[in-house]
Amino acid sequence: MKTIVVYKSKTGFTKRYAEWIADELKCDISEYKNISGTSVVRYDLIIFGSRLHAGRIDGLDKIKELIAHNGNSDLIVFATGAMPAAAENTLEEIWRSNFTEDELNKTPHFYMQGGLDYEKMGMFDRFLMKAFATALRKKRNKTQEEISTEQAIKSSFDASSREYIAPLIQYVNSIIT
Ligand SMILES: Cc1cc2nc3c(=O)[nH]c(=O)nc-3n(C[C@H](O)[C@H](O)[C@H](O)COP(=O)(O)O)c2cc1C
Repeated sequence: MKTIVVYKSKTGFTKRYAEWIADELKCDISEYKNISGTSVVRYDLIIFGSRLHAGRIDGLDKIKELIAHNGNSDLIVFATGAMPAAAENTLEEIWRSNFTEDELNKTPHFYMQGGLDYEKMGMFDRFLMKAFATALRKKRNKTQEEISTEQAIKSSFDASSREYIAPLIQYVNSIIT
């Protein structure tokens, strides 16, 4: 099964996960911006990884479109974000808003916690994070998750870990053997 990991990464967390996955699977890897329809058709399986950005999986719609119009490669998606994987309800909402019911059923999807890197973030993203932090600070009756988020986003942190790729690797190994 010819496989490629395609990633979109602004501050490096998704890139690191993509490299760990490609290393584990001994498969090709490419940055999203270098992928075209002609390169996609050469692969049976595309593992697409990107960051969560205000609840959206950055670039997911474009990769779905690219695959739909170029052959019939299988797609696996992984998303990285600042929130812990334990935030299961939020995560479930995110999957539901990024995929249709049908896509959810046929697209294996995985979450791997990354972190935040204010130094590598662009100006616009820093502005958005500041607006988000202010809104959280002013909010009354915060949930426990919101209180933790408010603390966590105050400064850069790195929660990435190679072990978080295990469920995805296990899944891929189960379909190729
Ligand atoms: C403007 C902005 C919005 C974000 N929205 C979310 C979000 O909705 N959920 C989440 O868990 N992380 C969110 N993050 C954190 C990123 O998803 C996280 O830093 C990710 O690992 C970055 O990946 P990258 O280094 O590959 O670009 C956001 C970050 C920024 C700057």
